[in-house]
Amino acid sequence: MAGAAPRPWTDAEESLARRMAGADILSVRQFTADELVTLLDLVARFEGAQRPVLQGKVLAALFFEPSTRTRLSFESAMARLGGACLGFADAGVSSTTKGESLSDTIRMAECYADVIVIRHPREGAARVAADSTGIPIINGGDGSNQHPTQTLLDLYTIRRRCGRLDGLRIGFLGDLKYGRAAHSLIEAVGMLGNQIVLVAPDALKLPAQRVDELRQHKVSFVETGDLDGALPGLDVLYVTRIQQERFGDPLEFQRVRDAYQVDAATLDRGKAGMIVMHPLPRVNEIHPSMDASPQAAYFEQARNGVTVRKAVLALLLGARP
Ligand code: NCD
Repeated sequence: MAGAAPRPWTDAEESLARRMAGADILSVRQFTADELVTLLDLVARFEGAQRPVLQGKVLAALFFEPSTRTRLSFESAMARLGGACLGFADAGVSSTTKGESLSDTIRMAECYADVIVIRHPREGAARVAADSTGIPIINGGDGSNQHPTQTLLDLYTIRRRCGRLDGLRIGFLGDLKYGRAAHSLIEAVGMLGNQIVLVAPDALKLPAQRVDELRQHKVSFVETGDLDGALPGLDVLYVTRIQQERFGDPLEFQRVRDAYQVDAATLDRGKAGMIVMHPLPRVNEIHPSMDASPQAAYFEQARNGVTVRKAVLALLLGARP
């Protein structure tokens, strides 16, 4: 039996795809709420895509900070669409150690590749990279600031699991001070019209400037230190790792390192269908006893990362599935 005819492209998909060809992805804020939804519709078209639409294209993956999922999923996405990758996973082996500027490194990568994904400890580094080259730059995480493709895979997972992207009550647990995955996703789910519950110990609360931005954008949110009090209303619990590498004072980290942990019993105290997400890597904030639960969505997030990055790479390079 023949499969269903492919869904024709909507005007919104056509126009977003046109706008993304040759563009950068630096922040979730470059998209409106409607565009984020349209972008996820485009991502869905890349589910299982294997056609070599990126044959002859090269991705430079420049990672100045550790990564497993982001780098490997970008490389996997490129390989599955017929493209190739080069780059470094450790800035210690690049000419940065000889004093080369970020801008010069980017100008070199531009000679060897068609698109660049960069991860860097400095906030704003992806913007600096974008200003140094004409080829598309993807922000794979800049300090505590943004991680937009992580947000896309998080939104994609939420939509698949919860059936919608608005009117949800989404709890963020953990390091809301330094976590860029949380920072990006909080902005996006706020724009999309969800209620946000920020659960963090005092030392790890969302920075005041970000709280002000939520107020300015009229996002519905509450702040609390009490997970058990927050749990019963949540549709999604987004757990984050304490970002040890961002603490200036190791004692400050020691004080909060075991501040929270969720496990299989946490699920019993929440709504029946609540899903638990985590950008990974986890350290001790999600006990492995939760992994077997159908409510655990974190490994699925990582899997969806490949589909999202296939779509992002293809769209920036002007290709279609
Ligand atoms: C996150 C990151 O690097 O910001 N990891 C990821 O990309 N999945 C989260 C983290 O390191 O805690």
